[in-house]
Amino acid sequence: MLRFLTAGESHGQALSAIVDGLPAGLHVSVEQINHQLWRRQQGHGRGGRMKIETDQAEILGGVRFGQTTGGPVSLLVRNADWRSWSDKMSVAPTDEENTRRVVSVPRPGHADLVGHIKYGFEDMRNALERASARETTMRVACGALARRLLEDAGVHIFSHVVSIGPVEVSSLPSDYSEIARLAEESPVRCADGDASQRMVDLIDQAKADRDTLGGIFEVVATGAPVGLGTYVQWDRRLDARIAMAMMSIQAMKGVEIGDGFAAARKMGSEVMDEIGWDGQGYTRSSNHMGGLEGGVSNGEPIVVRVAKKPLSTLMRPLKSVNIHTKEPSPAHVERSDVCAVPAAGVIGEAMLAMVLADAFLERFGGDNMSDILANLEQIRSAHRKQGKSVSASVAQDSSEC
Ligand SMILES: Cc1cc2nc3c(=O)[nH]c(=O)nc-3n(C[C@H](O)[C@H](O)[C@H](O)COP(=O)(O)O)c2cc1C
Repeated sequence: MLRFLTAGESHGQALSAIVDGLPAGLHVSVEQINHQLWRRQQGHGRGGRMKIETDQAEILGGVRFGQTTGGPVSLLVRNADWRSWSDKMSVAPTDEENTRRVVSVPRPGHADLVGHIKYGFEDMRNALERASARETTMRVACGALARRLLEDAGVHIFSHVVSIGPVEVSSLPSDYSEIARLAEESPVRCADGDASQRMVDLIDQAKADRDTLGGIFEVVATGAPVGLGTYVQWDRRLDARIAMAMMSIQAMKGVEIGDGFAAARKMGSEVMDEIGWDGQGYTRSSNHMGGLEGGVSNGEPIVVRVAKKPLSTLMRPLKSVNIHTKEPSPAHVERSDVCAVPAAGVIGEAMLAMVLADAFLERFGGDNMSDILANLEQIRSAHRKQGKSVSASVAQDSSEC
């Protein structure tokens, strides 16, 4: 229903995207998109490029007078760096070999070698340029639109970093809005002040050692209604769709929902969220399942943790082989981040927003925002009525006892 495609290279002229399936009447603005793009560019440990470029989106179609029309939304973000790359990334053929910045020695962990073998590139820059996480600029831009839709329905998404390298959070506020606020203020998007400082120190050390770091971030969606996704087909399960979206982000190596791998080491009695009834609706004693049961949202916050590997471009290059001579050679070095886990959290938010907005439209679908919000309200009020009539019959039953 809601889908998007991105195009463009890391050092090409621009990145672009098309978002298809947004309803008409959604209020959107370039400023909202730019705010999310700005968040993606923050975080201690990012490389020089983030300092020379401030991403600015342009909306080329699908929006009129501040509202979506129901047509595909076309987005563009120009690469400010293009000025110094126009000859090296020329669209037209060029004979000037020396301007190309050919990549001949693949970096272990990056897409260089598989790109060479799979597509037959003699210059692995072709692989590098498209595999680069620069592409996530457009995911964040598209996600900003999905996020707007969800916000109108009372769904809010945030992320925070739970570990970088061996440094982990040790204490977090119990209130999600407080975690979100503290993460926004931290240079590494970590809501534990002490851990945040130790993460910054670790990143500085890694930079001095010319090494890189990975880590784990958590993305949370609050306010998601019951019933997004379904168990009736494997590819329609919401947990599966979320996992795929997260794993599609460059450098992600693991996804957990709720207690994830930790739940697998415990007894069933310790990890199931017991069900209660408060007279108006169902309650849960905990949220170990991360808001998903049977591949369907259960009304609890949706909690997803994602593991990001350390970045593969090292300023102290690893051993590799020149693809032309087959001689051992230090891996290619390209301007690079030391740690991008905080930025990855923002990208995770965008991907979760796209998946939830898609599932939301499936459940409450309509062609314009007012119909969709009316559908949501109608279903919610039916649930409330159901709750009231059940409470009444419970009260009656107990008076008969
Ligand atoms: C926000 C973000 C920034 C990244 N920055 C870099 C970088 O500066 N240098 C690098 O080698 N990899 C970086 N990566 C990771 C590579 O894009 C990724 O490892 C590569 O495309 C290969 O894909 P894979 O790791 O999923 O196998 C970044 C990833 C993300 C999410």
